[in-house]
Amino acid sequence: MQQTEAGNPNIVHKVFTFEDEKKTPGETLTVSIPEVLDPQYGMYVWPCAVVLAQFVWTHREELSGKTVLEIGAGVGLPGVVAARCGARLFLSDSSENPSPPTSCCCQNWTWFLGSDVFYDPKDFEDVLVTIAFLLRKNPRARFWTTYQVRSADWSIEVLLQRWDLDCVPVPLDQFHADRPELAGSSLPGRHTVQMMIISRKNG
Ligand SMILES: C[S@@+](CC[C@H](N)C(=O)[O-])C[C@H]1O[C@@H](n2cnc3c(N)ncnc32)[C@H](O)[C@@H]1O
Repeated sequence: MQQTEAGNPNIVHKVFTFEDEKKTPGETLTVSIPEVLDPQYGMYVWPCAVVLAQFVWTHREELSGKTVLEIGAGVGLPGVVAARCGARLFLSDSSENPSPPTSCCCQNWTWFLGSDVFYDPKDFEDVLVTIAFLLRKNPRARFWTTYQVRSADWSIEVLLQRWDLDCVPVPLDQFHADRPELAGSSLPGRHTVQMMIISRKNG
């Protein structure tokens, strides 16, 4: 569902409603995310974001009181869902200066989130260097990330090795995200979205 902001036709609010019919019938979470009609691609919710937000929602019981950082957040749907589930949330996004803000180093992070941050192959290593740095400071933390398969030739395998990172794929059916419509949105559509959890090797 989407609504235009009164007085500003360039801002559209996209509404997502998460539910969990199997675990807690009747429990829902509705979030409204403003999108700016702007050529900058970070100003929209991407299909990957809905899938990652669904993963966050299905882990909501683990989030309360935990500190979470979303990188490459754009309009931040997964992070906003984490915050609504009780996490202390920091959002960040920068393609110009990929280093995490200095304040990030002082936090005790439990999870890092990143949806569709493996969008442009030229950024893959920057993103993984950022994650490797954050995981070195927080060895027990995990990076929850979704990516859209845009080319069979793109792979982060070699970079994971180079930066001492492990990766576990999470099948979408494990968190009921294996469908074209999710959270009341048709955004996932027919895109091939994959979910993985990245950690430090032996971490
Ligand atoms: C396809 S958009 C996804 C936005 C949002 N996460 C979503 O899924 O709706 C890719 C995002 O990655 C960010 N980005 C690109 N290079 C980055 C880097 N090196 N470090 C952090 N973020 C980066 C962009 O600014 C942009 O917001």
